[in-house]
Amino acid sequence: MTNGKPTSAQSRRRFLKTAAGAATLAASALHAPTILAQPSKVKVGFLLPYTGTYAQLGKAITDAFKLHVDEHGGRLAGRAIEYVQVDSEANPAKATDNTNRLVNLEKVDVIVGPVHSGVAVAMVRVTRESGTLTIDPNAGAGVVTGALCAPNVFRTSFSNWQPSYPMGKVLAERGMKKAVTLTWKYAAGEEAIGGFVENFKAHGGSIVKDLWVPFPKVEFQSLLTEIASIKPDAVFVFFAGGGAVKFVKDYAAAGLRNSVPLFGSGFLTDGTLKAQGDAAQGLETTLHYGDSLILPKNLAFREMYAKAAGREADVYAVQGYDAAQLLRIGLEAANGDVKAQKKMIGAMESAEIDSPRGKFTLSKAHNPIQDIYLRKVVGMENKVEGVAHKALADPATGCKMA
Ligand code: BEZ
Repeated sequence: MTNGKPTSAQSRRRFLKTAAGAATLAASALHAPTILAQPSKVKVGFLLPYTGTYAQLGKAITDAFKLHVDEHGGRLAGRAIEYVQVDSEANPAKATDNTNRLVNLEKVDVIVGPVHSGVAVAMVRVTRESGTLTIDPNAGAGVVTGALCAPNVFRTSFSNWQPSYPMGKVLAERGMKKAVTLTWKYAAGEEAIGGFVENFKAHGGSIVKDLWVPFPKVEFQSLLTEIASIKPDAVFVFFAGGGAVKFVKDYAAAGLRNSVPLFGSGFLTDGTLKAQGDAAQGLETTLHYGDSLILPKNLAFREMYAKAAGREADVYAVQGYDAAQLLRIGLEAANGDVKAQKKMIGAMESAEIDSPRGKFTLSKAHNPIQDIYLRKVVGMENKVEGVAHKALADPATGCKMA
């Protein structure tokens, strides 16, 4: 240093030091862990009953949906999944508010629900307006894939008409001519009975009495007394969840099992066998699933579900699992971009879903075209006796897809 100025040697040394420092910095930047922006999570809103007579149904759907996502490491098409759960209470009066909460407050990407047909009608009125992708994993209201059908609304379960319709033919062909029907007085009951009656009459049967009970009431005594006095060839019912447990037990306790044969859509004995015990033994029903189906997909699913949920799989679990499969198929087609709805919908519409119930496709109205099985309760199983109707499609009355 002379007169405060660096000598040329000092300048050269300082330059080399600075250059080396810059090179080290550049090298370490190269080796620093790269922090990439994580894609945001896909938000799935469950609108399902977690209390009341359908609580077990909502729980099975939720557990099985999550099981499929967990099978894929918690991601579908590379996107992590976040859940919001709203208890629908199977209450149609609260359904509009509950759906609006998920759509407008929680801003979910997808709604999965509901179980109850009355809730479904209110929910779909909101989501077809908002355009929110909707997957119905149970509620069978005909209008969901009928007059209210929409490009963004899909169903992985059934229409209420579907599982009951084949039983009309089965009973008529057994020579049963006079039947009594009994159900809860709401859309699911009315449409389920409607399906049975349509096919029973078409094959020569007649209905001697339609009996009703308000949903979700379970006071059956006076109705059972009436059935005993009518003595029809058969009784056909729609009940599900806690109500089905109570009805099957009351029917047996009234001593009717040996005098008036009881039949129903399979919800009567699905997810209920443990609670129904001996009262359910031998009951025959029709449904799009049977515990004993010997399909690799069903065997694997039942084992995985039992391990994950701590209870046996049922039709509701199957429908929830398939709702997650359908969402995965849509997301994969859109490379995980949940906003690319056209791509998602196109893939979902043409999907063949490898379900524990057997492979199925969707109708133009987005409802499963599926085999309906005749089942019989044997021990703790709904054992498949045969196919009551092959590849049954709902008529989708009034559906005009935009
Ligand atoms: C319904 O309300 O659509 C329904 C509920 C339980 C089982 C089947 C259908």
